[in-house]
Amino acid sequence: MGAMSPSPAVTPFQVELPSPPVLKPGVYRDPKTGRDCDLYQITARRATARILPGRDTEIWGYDGHVPGPTIVARQGRPVVLRISNELPEETVLHLHGGHVPPESDGQMMDPILPGKMQELVYPNIQDASTLWYHTHVLHRTGQQVYRGLAAFYILTDDFEDKLPLPKGEYDVAFVIQDRLFTNDGSFNYALARHSIMHGLYGDTILVNGAVQPFLPVSARKYRLRILNGSNARPYELRLSSGDAFVQIASDGGLLPAPVRRESMLMGPAERIEVVVDFGAYPVGTKIVLKDLLAQGGRTEDILRFDVVRKANDDSSVPAVLRPMQPLQAAEAVRTRRWVLGMNMGMGMGMGRGMGRGMMGGGGGSGGPNDLFTINGLSHGHGRVDAYPTLDDVEIWEYVNPMMMWHPMHCHNIFWQTLDRNGRPPEPWEAGWKDTWFVPPGGAVRVIGKFSDFTSSPAPEAHTDYMMHCHNLEHKDHGMMTAFRVLAKGVKPPAPGGQEHRHVPGPR
Ligand code: C2O
Ligand code: CU
Ligand code: CU
Repeated sequence: MGAMSPSPAVTPFQVELPSPPVLKPGVYRDPKTGRDCDLYQITARRATARILPGRDTEIWGYDGHVPGPTIVARQGRPVVLRISNELPEETVLHLHGGHVPPESDGQMMDPILPGKMQELVYPNIQDASTLWYHTHVLHRTGQQVYRGLAAFYILTDDFEDKLPLPKGEYDVAFVIQDRLFTNDGSFNYALARHSIMHGLYGDTILVNGAVQPFLPVSARKYRLRILNGSNARPYELRLSSGDAFVQIASDGGLLPAPVRRESMLMGPAERIEVVVDFGAYPVGTKIVLKDLLAQGGRTEDILRFDVVRKANDDSSVPAVLRPMQPLQAAEAVRTRRWVLGMNMGMGMGMGRGMGRGMMGGGGGSGGPNDLFTINGLSHGHGRVDAYPTLDDVEIWEYVNPMMMWHPMHCHNIFWQTLDRNGRPPEPWEAGWKDTWFVPPGGAVRVIGKFSDFTSSPAPEAHTDYMMHCHNLEHKDHGMMTAFRVLAKGVKPPAPGGQEHRHVPGPR
């Protein structure tokens, strides 16, 4: 690592795992449909939090919380979210994993200016799943998430409710994030060449905003919804007891069947849900959730479960969770290949700086934020690389010839994994996904259907969906592109005439 000075040291397991407040919705009758919706009003604003002992940290949070308040939504009942911006700069709100109309997807070209409000509508026509909402602002997503703009959005449904899984207080969501702090307690989001290249790694683990907390648990089964909300750091989770987790869900909700796993690699933005049976341990046992990738380091210990009382347990994990109809490769109308890379000139730090991406296409590359590329081009603003037609099934292949991992994420729809490095996915990756951790020298093929929502063919409508690396420093430095879902019969721009508009940035 560079010359970054370490954060103030903190003794682990001194504070209890906080749970973010759960918002109570108001009722809103949609004038167009006459239907009742859940109405939420959230303000992105500055606040002060006590994260390190004896020091205050300025945070930017939804309603001033880190993480922000949790929204619990119900399948079939739309959510109307009014987001006000009281930050000193523009922001954008995106529902990660949300199958939503493009106008409500968090459009970077339509940011919420300071002092302004935006209304987003989430129809909730997808299955129960652990989603999250976070800022998606152009070039500064990494910085804004770091300061706290991220929160859970938990979607429930009847199907899942009928399963005998642990519920209520035995269903716990937590987000793992790593941070650097300066000595006065401020977040230290200081990008240097190394941290742009690899993403910014912190030396202090926060879980739901608290440093390495503990969670008192009853001796029974719990459902744990785990989100890797870190900008760049992956985790390989393991219990100090050596016992296996029973994974029941991934990004898009329940797996077809539970899977036992002793350790679980998790890239940024991925969600894993497990059931852990603390009934297997006597009261008084302490079990630490550890990161195998950080062995011996100060971030190795993430969270400690303290078994503090006996309890009845009528929950169980059924052998069948949510059946999934596999999409067949033969149904796909096309395959798109996305090759990840860098603008070599910039990557080498030389003055020549004329990689293919910087010359090509009359835009989309060449600025200070254009280090990483997809198919040879950086994001630019307004670049569109795919025009799928509504209800088409497509195969997308993420190809990573680089030496580093990339957590590739696609907006709008959930996908099934066809293969990883040419082999069928492991059972834990065989459910619905929106983010895949693509290994160095590897490739992941996924298949999905562009259902329900279309974009306007007009670029100025700002109705594109994004696909990008969820290493947020990579996203902010060009590893992103857009796609526009066209209604049947609407023609994409002529081949070769694909749009790579160059629009000056906001600053
Ligand atoms: Cu979680 Cu485009 O983001
Ligand atoms: Cu997303
Ligand atoms: Cu990346």
